[in-house]
Amino acid sequence: MIYLDNSATSPIDEEVRDAMLPYLNEEFGNPSSKYYCKATNAKNAVEDAREKVAKLLGAEPEEIIFTASATESSNFIIKGYLDYRKFYGDGRNHVITSLVEHKATLNTCKYLNGELYSNNDPTTSLFGGKKKVDRGYEASFVGVNSDGEIDIEEISSAIKENTALVSMLYVNNEIGTISDVESVAEICKKNNIALHADLTQALGKSEINVKQMGIDYASCSAHKLYGPKGIGAAFMKADAYGIAPITAFMHGGEQEFGFRAGTHAVHNIVGFGKAAEIALRDLKKNKAHIKILDDMLIAGVSTIDGIHTTVDTSKRLPGIVSLVVDKSDFHNERFIKKVSEEVALSTGSACSAGEPSYVIQALGLADKVTKVLRVSINKYTTEKDIEKFIRLVKTKI
Ligand SMILES: Cc1ncc(COP(=O)(O)O)c(C=O)c1O
Repeated sequence: MIYLDNSATSPIDEEVRDAMLPYLNEEFGNPSSKYYCKATNAKNAVEDAREKVAKLLGAEPEEIIFTASATESSNFIIKGYLDYRKFYGDGRNHVITSLVEHKATLNTCKYLNGELYSNNDPTTSLFGGKKKVDRGYEASFVGVNSDGEIDIEEISSAIKENTALVSMLYVNNEIGTISDVESVAEICKKNNIALHADLTQALGKSEINVKQMGIDYASCSAHKLYGPKGIGAAFMKADAYGIAPITAFMHGGEQEFGFRAGTHAVHNIVGFGKAAEIALRDLKKNKAHIKILDDMLIAGVSTIDGIHTTVDTSKRLPGIVSLVVDKSDFHNERFIKKVSEEVALSTGSACSAGEPSYVIQALGLADKVTKVLRVSINKYTTEKDIEKFIRLVKTKI
């Protein structure tokens, strides 16, 4: 089977797996324990991984907090930053985000805005109708242009006196569009607003430097860059006094500088570190490889009647290709099921697989939600895989 669903997750790199194994076997110590070598070995392994993840982000090791996922990182930062600023800072309690965020951000902001309490069940009262509650926070959701770029003018106009945070995607997980984080960072700085960027789809695939980009907080995850699942990181910018406090997400022990209680998943952290090291080492090579395949894929499908890319391909990070199959009898869900023995594809985000894509709707393509396919490439994908995929599309659509 050809695997073309890398935006959902990537295969684990063998080097990463090998680096993790000792920490699942003999090196099982708890890094928070003291003195004996299994504890210090575990602690050193965690700190070594922190350095490697920091380096990939262009950050300092003390600015990295390990979490269980990018979802957790975004929850921690958005909720934690707003809570701290509202109760311990200047009282600001408003977050601005976009309509095309991953659900990790979108639902976190909806939760703060009192629109939902769980992810699959909007706050519906016992008597029917939506129930909105007042959690003491506000959220605004801004739109995108037809290529999926987050609208900077809309962000500027959404700023209010109580705006504390802007939370935005850098590379969109469904369409690959890159949004202008640097310009938003400038606006935020002028207005004393912090900027959180979701770097999950970009890290390890394009050059990232949180300092140069003007980002204050960021989320990322190992399993998108050939690392293990269940481990993510939050970047928190430090100043001369260290990282400014925000409200912790997990309350309990003092792990992760007191921000994230819970015994470290050392094997996963080591895996993330190794994946980050490899991503930096091989960045140029992998980018060039993926670009060649991306060009080949787009050229190949453009010869097929009725298929076009969803957005301007020059606005994207190569590797995520969203296609519209404009044929009346085509249904994306049915198609990916039909070809599932031969190729792994998706209609959009794995975290929203049960519903029509809100990202495609935000582009103004509500009538095309059943026509869109997401094809995402990894460093192991070959030219033969792309040729096979194009043949399959030609014969089976
Ligand atoms: C842009 C983006 N943000 C956040 C996430 C969530 O990452 P995780 O699976 O680590 O929670 C994903 C995963 O698909 C993503 O693509």
